[in-house]
Amino acid sequence: MDAIARDLAPKVTAVLDLKNVQRLLDLGGGPATYAIAFAKAHPRLQATVFDLPQPIKIAQEQIAKQGLSDRINTLAGNFLQDDIGKGYDFIWVSQILHSHDEGQSQGIIGKCVQALNPGGTLAIHDFYLNKDGASPPGPAMFGVHMLAVTPRGRAYTWGEVAEWMAEAGLTAPEHLCYDEGDASILVAQKKYRISLLNPGYSGGGDRLPNQSPLAI
Ligand SMILES: C[S@@+](CC[C@H](N)C(=O)[O-])C[C@H]1O[C@@H](n2cnc3c(N)ncnc32)[C@H](O)[C@@H]1O
Repeated sequence: MDAIARDLAPKVTAVLDLKNVQRLLDLGGGPATYAIAFAKAHPRLQATVFDLPQPIKIAQEQIAKQGLSDRINTLAGNFLQDDIGKGYDFIWVSQILHSHDEGQSQGIIGKCVQALNPGGTLAIHDFYLNKDGASPPGPAMFGVHMLAVTPRGRAYTWGEVAEWMAEAGLTAPEHLCYDEGDASILVAQKKYRISLLNPGYSGGGDRLPNQSPLAI
């Protein structure tokens, strides 16, 4: 998977506009290949790589080798159970969902939405299937492999993952097919909650006690 990431990372950094991103999370970032590419492309960006304790040691070595230990930190843990931090402007989830079942995948997306700043972006990179669930050929073959080698994983259609993202409180996702290959990215923003009431408004009318201000 690292060889694939090293091939795809320059193409991904070329297509994503991260110039306003200050804090990035690479969830399940493995050897930090993408976090390193993002940090090199955007000198003001601070990144966190989250992964299980063993892979995180490899990530730390790679980050140090690239002289980026002051800009990329690491968090060791299990993203299904542990806190993944918060205050991120951008969360990158690459090649993760296909190893997990639908409930776990929705849980990961929900956790990411909680960890994002309002207006922040969630990008989910995977070998997505088309709506028919059987094409393109690469992701279809990959999906069969996932059925064999993971307890409950499979390849998902980009439509089903986009639906989970929207249900979790993100804007309608864009599907970025960034090159001729089999991987593509779903990108969406966490919605702002905008109060429609003037900050000087102190109640009155028919609001119930303890009712929070009207927000969208
Ligand atoms: C297929 S690799 C993808 C690595 C990298 N994101 C990429 O696209 O090349 C999946 C990564 O997720 C990590 N991972 C799997 N389950 C995890 C969990 N429950 N908590 C944290 N990391 C996990 C693995 O250790 C591995 O590094």
